[in-house]
Amino acid sequence: MANKDVTDPVRMEKIVSLCKRRGFIFQAGELYGGLNGCWDYGPLGAELKRNLKDYWWRKTVQERDDVLGMDGAILTMEQVLQSSGHIGGFSDPMVDCKTCKGRFRADNLDTYECKEKPSVCPGASPKCELTEPREFNLMLQTNFGATGEQVAYLRPETAQSIFCQYKNVLDSNRVKLPFGIAQIGKSFRNEINPRNYIFRSREFEQMEIEYFCRPEDGMRLTDEWLETRLCFYEEIGIPRAKLHILDVPDGDRAFYSKKTYDIEYEFPFGIQELEGVAYRTDYDLGVHAKGSGRPLEYFDEETKERFLPHVVEPSAGCDRTVLALICEAFDEEELGTDGKSDMRTVMRFMPSMAPIKVAIFPLLKKNEEQVRICREIQKSLQPWMNVFYDDSGAVGRRYRRQDEIGTPFCVTVDFETLGEEIPDLKGTVTLRHRDSMEQERLSIDELLPWLLARVR
Ligand code: GAP
Repeated sequence: MANKDVTDPVRMEKIVSLCKRRGFIFQAGELYGGLNGCWDYGPLGAELKRNLKDYWWRKTVQERDDVLGMDGAILTMEQVLQSSGHIGGFSDPMVDCKTCKGRFRADNLDTYECKEKPSVCPGASPKCELTEPREFNLMLQTNFGATGEQVAYLRPETAQSIFCQYKNVLDSNRVKLPFGIAQIGKSFRNEINPRNYIFRSREFEQMEIEYFCRPEDGMRLTDEWLETRLCFYEEIGIPRAKLHILDVPDGDRAFYSKKTYDIEYEFPFGIQELEGVAYRTDYDLGVHAKGSGRPLEYFDEETKERFLPHVVEPSAGCDRTVLALICEAFDEEELGTDGKSDMRTVMRFMPSMAPIKVAIFPLLKKNEEQVRICREIQKSLQPWMNVFYDDSGAVGRRYRRQDEIGTPFCVTVDFETLGEEIPDLKGTVTLRHRDSMEQERLSIDELLPWLLARVR
């Protein structure tokens, strides 16, 4: 898998530039020089991310009987992370270069380039004068209380609050095995080398499911969840052909994991992990039962057995999936008109993911009746979806601006809408499709149900 070369730095540069120019993603703290490894989502990026999270929640929690949601605190007690093993062992091996002063992860040195002194020291290569690797804990610590006497951590994964609340969820909801607890939320890691745009950052969001089951079902459910998650990616517009499944070999898995699949995507900077589906056995509940001194066993009413459930964990990165959606959607199309070359930039998001679902234009902004009808249509659609009104410039240029941000449909109110030329067309609008650029006429009354059937 690693042999397939999918890298395309030029494409990646174009994507990053479009994302800034059109307001998808900005560097955090840019005004003051930027905060490394942190990103802000602008208006369009925030909508895209929200669409992704809403769809994940709908498919994972709302449409399933066996998964419940939760929303845990970000600030995490030291004892929790002591028991989970994060305080002792959540680290990456780090090396420093004495020449360029660069700091690198020791486990993938060959992928780095020296940014500071490329002529002296071309990255973490044999020319670098590297220190011996040492362990670098990835957690971000903070302090509570008037004198800062109490230590807490920004959680490094959402999973731990799920394990710690597993018994409360079980007791308060009367659920039976197998069942899952799902959570979407921020996690924080002091990554040694945040890189590849929003792919590896220090503050990021995860979409995690901890699926509790009987021990004998763990392996089978891991395979089932892998398939469910692959279908999810297809549904949001990431084709199966661009996904790779890495069956993580024995030596590379966490010591407590009996099986781990990495779902990888062909990013323009290489084939990289989007999500891990791991069979974590009863490790997590075991360490928290021991650390807290509280029983976390499940009592099976039918068999009268008492045991620690095993856990299958599909854990996806929200920001990485947003990046995959953007990379997959980005397209440049040559439209040769009258012998002149004309490049159209289109973000081919699925309508369900697109930040803006429909744009509404009056053909002429000076025509008061066209503007009035546009505003009326806009008002009628806004409770259901994101609508954008635009009356500036030629209609062709307005279409192009929407193509570039991935709006799947544009509606133009024109003279036919007013019934001025062909009375039969009164009350209809031009509906233009982003991908085919084809146009059709639709009555204003049909617009809402037509769109609702396509954009959710
Ligand atoms: N609870 C399991 C867990 O956290 P992980 O493989 O460390 O496992 C799961 O993380 C997912 O979270 C990854 O597949 C990735 O999508 C995302 N992720 C992890 N570290 C990240 C980072 N520094 N920046 C962005 N996303 C990250």
